[in-house]
Amino acid sequence: MRIIGTGSALPKKVVTNAMLSEFLDTSDEWIIPRTGIRSRHVITDERVEDLGAEAARKALEQAGMQPGDIDFFICSNVATEYVTPGMSCIISAKIGLSCPCIDINCACPGFIYAMDIAETYYQAGKVHNVLIVCAEEPSRMTSWDDRSTCVLFGDGAGAAVLTEGNNIRGIELHSQPDPDKIWQTKTLVPTPFVTKEEKDVPLQMKGREVFKFAVSASTRDVQSLLKKVGIEQSQVAYYMVHQANLRIIDAIKQYLGESDEKFPTNIADHGNSSSASCPILLDECNRKGLFNKGDILVFSAFGAGLLSAVAVVEW
Ligand code: COA
Repeated sequence: MRIIGTGSALPKKVVTNAMLSEFLDTSDEWIIPRTGIRSRHVITDERVEDLGAEAARKALEQAGMQPGDIDFFICSNVATEYVTPGMSCIISAKIGLSCPCIDINCACPGFIYAMDIAETYYQAGKVHNVLIVCAEEPSRMTSWDDRSTCVLFGDGAGAAVLTEGNNIRGIELHSQPDPDKIWQTKTLVPTPFVTKEEKDVPLQMKGREVFKFAVSASTRDVQSLLKKVGIEQSQVAYYMVHQANLRIIDAIKQYLGESDEKFPTNIADHGNSSSASCPILLDECNRKGLFNKGDILVFSAFGAGLLSAVAVVEW
């Protein structure tokens, strides 16, 4: 397939590190050197599905397509107020789609997992035009008393329209099952029969271990896929790395021996927006005119699961 339109949408409320330090024992001086994050957009009165719909409309407009042109819709989302229907159905109703749609919960690498599904359906001859929306509100998953997690995240949505083409040069998906490193639980409706213990627990994370996983998985994934598809690092124009932490991105850059210019970032103003991170970055770079036709983009993302994924895409 080929990416022909991108879009993104952010909540209006911007929360700076200084604002966090008004109610948390934290500071700009702690957060910036450890994460690179200065501020993040956080949901107030918006609904995450409305952000998803706005990002989708922008991507469709840029692609020059109407909702009726889309024959498959994939939505990536980790947490929403709805248990059912899936976010893909809710967004479909908002933007006027009536094609088959599915939801995936692959955490931060969700955009790359979605591209892989789109490409595989396309190769199977089942679809022609696919919409991907990643809509996330991780600010509603963390405890706002927990300074080690809540400072890291921000909300938002990113979207892409893919059509027929030969520009996805390769994708690799990886899983290293270890659900204890990042997790959150929410209780279901009680019944007269349930006897097991269940609890609502906000997002828990073993930060240092996740950091190490992120750096080693991303470096391995990128090197492995580039080798497989026969592309040299010198041919890569940009690495579109999941925006979790600037130190993670810097370490990946160092291990790959690459230069700063090849790693666009927006972590400073967004924090980690889970699977929305890669498509928001893609849209911002695209709308700034950063990419030239033929540029090789390498997407790499990692997160809860533990899952990671990498894609090589020709622009
Ligand atoms: N402000 C001030 N102090 C904080 C703090 C904050 N926001 N968060 C944690 N601390 C404190 C801790 O309480 C601890 O204090 P102590 O030594 O008195 O116990 C100290 O800082 C060190 O904590 P630690 O967790 O060891 O810090 P760290 O250097 O590992 O940095 C992260 C923490 C979360 C920034 C880092 O581990 C990280 O970025 N990990 C990856 C997380 C991630 O990106 N997850 C998503 C992947 S998709």
